[in-house]
Amino acid sequence: MKTVLITGVSRGIGKALAERFLQNGDFVVGTSTKGTSDWTHENLTVLKLDLSKSESIEECAEQIIAFGKKIDILINNAGIWSGAEDDPVLRIKDLRKTLEVNLFGTADFTDRVLPLVNDGGHIINISSRAGSLSYVHDAEYPDYKISKAALNMFTRMLAIRFKDKITVSSVHPGWVKTDMGGSDADMEPKEAAEHIFKLAYTPVETGQFWFKGEKFPW
Ligand SMILES: NC(=O)c1ccc[n+]([C@@H]2O[C@H](COP(=O)([O-])OP(=O)(O)OC[C@H]3O[C@@H](n4cnc5c(N)ncnc54)[C@H](OP(=O)(O)O)[C@@H]3O)[C@@H](O)[C@H]2O)c1
Repeated sequence: MKTVLITGVSRGIGKALAERFLQNGDFVVGTSTKGTSDWTHENLTVLKLDLSKSESIEECAEQIIAFGKKIDILINNAGIWSGAEDDPVLRIKDLRKTLEVNLFGTADFTDRVLPLVNDGGHIINISSRAGSLSYVHDAEYPDYKISKAALNMFTRMLAIRFKDKITVSSVHPGWVKTDMGGSDADMEPKEAAEHIFKLAYTPVETGQFWFKGEKFPW
């Protein structure tokens, strides 16, 4: 039974991920901005975390430390996008808001819970192909793309720092039917979660970018 910490389990990919690990018999500590979720499980604990607020990050990390459990798998899943589709203009207000959650908050939260991550553990940052410098081909939603490219570098930095101790991966989950992905997306949250679940349990090369179990270009 592994202990899995997943941010953003209230809905979307994070919810499907939490359900998959619970189905496997793992213990899941999840987060949502309200500190509750509309679903429960005996092995699920949901804590309040708002990645845009440093006090909330500090409080949540303290609660996790107080549990006294070591973490085997950390999945930084929670993320936002400005929703400015078809809009190539980079608005600094949007960039700050998106970076606050997708990069600064995620890095701060990771840093605070890092001492709890077991040697041999796996940290997975849910990124996006939108953050791939070689894949990117249009100028839409620039703030989101910049945030995920930066998150990918965060993955590489952690991987180098914790080489031979912790595996660190970035993942593109696919285009997934969620509040963020919309109803036209071509993957169900369950399918995306299955690939991420398998990756979490597979001894893979650290510091890589993955999509459906295959390496994805940076
Ligand atoms: N869906 C796609 O097609 C797609 C494609 C590529 C990458 N991704 C990435 O996959 C991850 C999950 O996306 P999704 O589609 O499942 O999104 P979603 O349905 O919009 O869910 C977002 C999750 O993040 C949490 N969250 C939002 N703002 C937060 C904040 N300020 N602090 C802490 N948690 C916050 C939400 O919690 P609340 O419910 O409490 O607000 C929710 O649990 C994201 O990192 C996203 O960028 C998604």
